[in-house]
Amino acid sequence: MKREYDFLVIGSGIAGLSYALKVADYGKVAVVSKTELKETNTAYAQGGIASVTYDPDTFEKHINDTLIAGDGECNVEAVKKVVKEAPEQIKQLLQWGTDFDKKKDGQFDLHREGGHSEHRILHHKDNTGAEIQRALIEEVHSHPSIDVLQYHFAVDIITQHHMGKVTEPWMRDIECYGAYVLNKNTGAIETILAKTTMMATGGIGSVYHTTTNPLIATGDGIAMVFRAKGIIENMEFIQFHPTSLYNPSERPSFLITEAMRGYGGILRRQNGQEFMEEYDERGCLAPRDIVARAIDNELKLSGDEYVFLDVTHKSAEETRNHFPTIYNKCMSLGIDITKDMIPVVPAAHYLCGGIKVDLNGRSSINQLYATGECSSTGLHGANRLASNSLIEALVFSDAAAKDAIETIKNIEINRRIPDWNDEGTSHPEEMILITQSNREVQQIMSKYVGIVRSNIRLNRAYDRLEVIYRETEKLYQDSKVSEKICHLRNKINVGYLIIKMARKRKESRGLHYTIDYPNKLED
Ligand code: FAD
Ligand code: SIN
Repeated sequence: MKREYDFLVIGSGIAGLSYALKVADYGKVAVVSKTELKETNTAYAQGGIASVTYDPDTFEKHINDTLIAGDGECNVEAVKKVVKEAPEQIKQLLQWGTDFDKKKDGQFDLHREGGHSEHRILHHKDNTGAEIQRALIEEVHSHPSIDVLQYHFAVDIITQHHMGKVTEPWMRDIECYGAYVLNKNTGAIETILAKTTMMATGGIGSVYHTTTNPLIATGDGIAMVFRAKGIIENMEFIQFHPTSLYNPSERPSFLITEAMRGYGGILRRQNGQEFMEEYDERGCLAPRDIVARAIDNELKLSGDEYVFLDVTHKSAEETRNHFPTIYNKCMSLGIDITKDMIPVVPAAHYLCGGIKVDLNGRSSINQLYATGECSSTGLHGANRLASNSLIEALVFSDAAAKDAIETIKNIEINRRIPDWNDEGTSHPEEMILITQSNREVQQIMSKYVGIVRSNIRLNRAYDRLEVIYRETEKLYQDSKVSEKICHLRNKINVGYLIIKMARKRKESRGLHYTIDYPNKLED
């Protein structure tokens, strides 16, 4: 089956949906989502969305905080763009019906998080992402030009390679004609042809064993672009959130928002001692890479499985009011956070790198854009400032929309694309092999490519992953396409990119810390 669109959007988080809404008045749009529209990283975001709103905050301060966190790797133009265009995008979110908490005087109730010099985080209680996702979904459903294709899994983007032409990484004219998509309702692979394609597939947390990300975060977009020979960068910069709820039986790990430390939460050893002042003068409000490494070190020294986050000294009413989601979640496990300390551990949370894009969201492949967490815009550099990703997605989706609206005027749909060919393949007899390889990949990444790295660990990870890669590629060639094997294959591709780029970086910078090169090289 073939479908044709002006704009194909792969992903239904803040990046994909805000882009779809911006282009929808200019052509026919398809939004493809591999599960329900609402199952996204976006919907899990707690802390909020950063934007300069009131005095004494200024653009300069937000720019400066972002650059400090980015540790010399940010693209200054991207930083300025996001910070300066943020207020306009917040207005747009409000117009789409998003509700942010306000104080009695009518001003926004701004939170402060680690690495921010001012209160600048707009939020909706502690479930900001769910509120944004709700508003965007309502808007998308009411737009007549947007076709929503839920339970459709993008397998690969279509390029000249699918017409039998050789594409090489050095080629400047690789073109994207749409994507092959597995319709999970029918099991058929559909060909979706488009004048422009937007990759908005989100993060990679599920490549790790312990992560705050929902299961959908398997790095599919990055893997698809990598296979199509597009440019991927900065994959070594994985952000581990310092405080996810310690509950080994639960995946994904439930996040305890950084806003809790902004609110006055204190990190303590299991014996009750505070420890963050021993690592950084900013104490519990140090940027999250420093806090995550400090906790990692504490756990290694003590042999404990978690540390505590303590808000028992705060007003119980205020705590319940500000953090209802966390309060209820912890209560369901018998932890009353107004009286008991919360057991926490670091977890893989966010990818700073990804598909390299320019200031208009264009990737290195023609007619292919990328936005949101799967993209690398240069905003985060070596480390992302908390709450800067939702706003990045909005600003870059807006820029890409403006560019794509112009681009489609000069593009014809390519109708010479062959349908998916699965002759000679069959259903794998032992799905358990895929399940087991998946577990192995997650263990390899968590044990050897985590918060603290070393040459020995990275080399071991590389060698182990290569074995699984070879086995999986053989299985993939022989098998009918299933989401399960594609996920495994994508995770292997993403793991390979992280390890490759981590091995190449002979220094410690931002989120990449290795005991073999503990210092930063001169910029
Ligand atoms: P997502 O929202 O993850 O959407 C990805 C979409 O792509 C999904 O619809 C998925 O189904 C689809 N998809 C993926 N692969 C395929 C495929 N092969 N075929 C079809 N569809 C596919 N950031 C902040 O700025 N502030 C916060 O407070 C904050 N809190 C967070 C809390 C948690 C627990 C987590 C996990 C993240 C948090 N982040 C926060 C980060 C932020 O939520 C994400 O970076 C952001 O939401 C990513 O948005 P996105 O649109 O790029 O991707
Ligand atoms: C959090 O609420 O701590 C997450 C914020 C973020 O990841 O930006």
